[in-house]
Amino acid sequence: MDWPERVFNDKGRAAPARTGRGEPISALIDRRRLLLGAAALSLAPVAASAAGGLGFPPLSLSIGPREAIAAGYRRDIVLRWGDPLWSNAAPFDPSRPDSDAAARQFGFNNDYTAFLPLEDGEPDRGLLVVNHEYPNPHLMFGALQEASAAAEMSLEQVRVTMAACGMSVVELRRANGVWKAVLDSPFNRRVTATTPVRISGPAAGHPRLRTAADPSGRAVLGTHDNCNGGVTPWGTVLSGEEGSADFFGGDVSRHPDPAHLARNHYADLEPHGRYGWARADRRFDINHEPNEPNRFEWVVEIDPFDPDAAPVKRTALGRFAHEGAQCALAPDGRVVVYLGDDWEYEYCYRFVTAQPFDPNNRAANRDLLDEGVLSVARFSAEGTVDWLPLVYGVGPLTTENGFHSQGDVLVETRRAADLLGATPMDSPEGYLPDPKTGRIIIALTGADEARTAGTNAANPRDENAAGHLLELVPPDTGLGPDHAADRFAWTIFALCGDPAKPGEGARFHPAAGPEDWFEAPDNLAFDAVGRLWVCTDGPGRRDHDGLWVMATDGEARAWPRLFYSPPAGAECCSPAFTPDGSGLFLAVQHPAEGAASLAEVTERWPERDPALAPRPSVIFISRIDGGSILGQHT
Ligand code: FEO
Ligand code: CA
Ligand code: CA
Repeated sequence: MDWPERVFNDKGRAAPARTGRGEPISALIDRRRLLLGAAALSLAPVAASAAGGLGFPPLSLSIGPREAIAAGYRRDIVLRWGDPLWSNAAPFDPSRPDSDAAARQFGFNNDYTAFLPLEDGEPDRGLLVVNHEYPNPHLMFGALQEASAAAEMSLEQVRVTMAACGMSVVELRRANGVWKAVLDSPFNRRVTATTPVRISGPAAGHPRLRTAADPSGRAVLGTHDNCNGGVTPWGTVLSGEEGSADFFGGDVSRHPDPAHLARNHYADLEPHGRYGWARADRRFDINHEPNEPNRFEWVVEIDPFDPDAAPVKRTALGRFAHEGAQCALAPDGRVVVYLGDDWEYEYCYRFVTAQPFDPNNRAANRDLLDEGVLSVARFSAEGTVDWLPLVYGVGPLTTENGFHSQGDVLVETRRAADLLGATPMDSPEGYLPDPKTGRIIIALTGADEARTAGTNAANPRDENAAGHLLELVPPDTGLGPDHAADRFAWTIFALCGDPAKPGEGARFHPAAGPEDWFEAPDNLAFDAVGRLWVCTDGPGRRDHDGLWVMATDGEARAWPRLFYSPPAGAECCSPAFTPDGSGLFLAVQHPAEGAASLAEVTERWPERDPALAPRPSVIFISRIDGGSILGQHT
């Protein structure tokens, strides 16, 4: 691969060099108090280096594990775990566990966040759709230790964790620059581990999806491990069910199909599951209900504009550890969904609908995701990506290999992809088409386990603790990028890690400074001016995560700057921009994670109140002066 020329040979307009200096801390806090009132956040800005044309003075890497934001910006708390969504919901009080109350409050561990304007186009109103990925029982309730919480929680505490997972839809309104939930909005909605969800597509009704409670194989209770997602062109939200094994308990060796479970990374389950769910509901015991796992790890579609419509698991998009589901349109109007399987040495997928998107008839798109072709990526050393169709009867996906229908292929997506010779990847997470260029960036968070299959051109490191970013380039038909083409080109966008460390092999922009690097890239977002925003998750050698911004074109391509640092123990997820450029929503997930119990937590973010647990929260970031976050300024 011709690194770095292919990466840095853009002849784009020079990004103007800018300098920026952090304001004196006291001045900033004083101004923020004026702007924000008593609830003002006391975040110290951190001295800046050159802004590099990105519109903000970047944070220094040396800030350590604490919350900080680039000078000139503020953040407001929008929604916290436990905030009521209806006026008759009981107030947040985890010392009195109440699962009915929890199902009427904002959930735990917010990950994916989508902001959808309402049809009236009012800029101060919209719907926030949020995934609640998993519980941290030992940080939700006092007197529990992480190692023993699953066995020691009360059954009502377990039920609270089940009600705190899933999804939220919340109407927001903005007043004086601050977004707040609209209590009792008809759009407000919680989807929990017990909400009826429809199963559709080729695997719906499959014998391996039938259970004692649902002999039809078409109706499941709940969704869980909802990680990242995407928004469809018709304004519904897709939610990836990722890595369900933690939610199940039992003995894999006593399951009727242990090979199937093993291929899907079910190994050494705890007796009642990591969060004790099998104690409260026996369907989460794989020995009691062997098919229940097959009813998870799908992509769920929810229509936030229709609170009465059940969420739907779209089985045509395959079954694996779905990180997210980001959409693009092919020139002929077919919808393309990019799907990563977030596990070490798993694969990158793509789904192409059979029918085109109809922009004039929303109802016509309702079941578009039930019919189409799922493919898996094979990367060549020559710089091409081939999309291999996962279609029953094609190639090795036949009866002699145990596939008797398309439903079989989808329930065992990973085994089918193995047989096609897909390329094992270093944990695909963010996987996002750039709406301006049509190129696709893939964030590979990294891989720590032994690489038994050897390296490959797209995953070139023997050990890849730091991760990397790939760029895919669909062919241009003259009508725009053809996301449905059989063959793309690819290149490495960045190899993450510290470029100053010899032997690391890290590569960002050649002129990037000693603080302009990150590792463990996870969520990605493009803003309206084409900047790429990258959230990290669990960097191995850095003591905190961050939100980074960089250009993907021009002379500053692949030159990252740190914009926001979440509180200790947290990752920040899923930047979601308002259409008016006034700011972005950001999910701050699992604050204080790493502490073995609440007693060990040193900072109970965001209130910092010793009487309260740390609370995962969605924040909104905007400029203190009220200007657009997309402008060039220091
Ligand atoms: Fe839920 Fe892949 O992070
Ligand atoms: Ca993620
Ligand atoms: Ca992650």
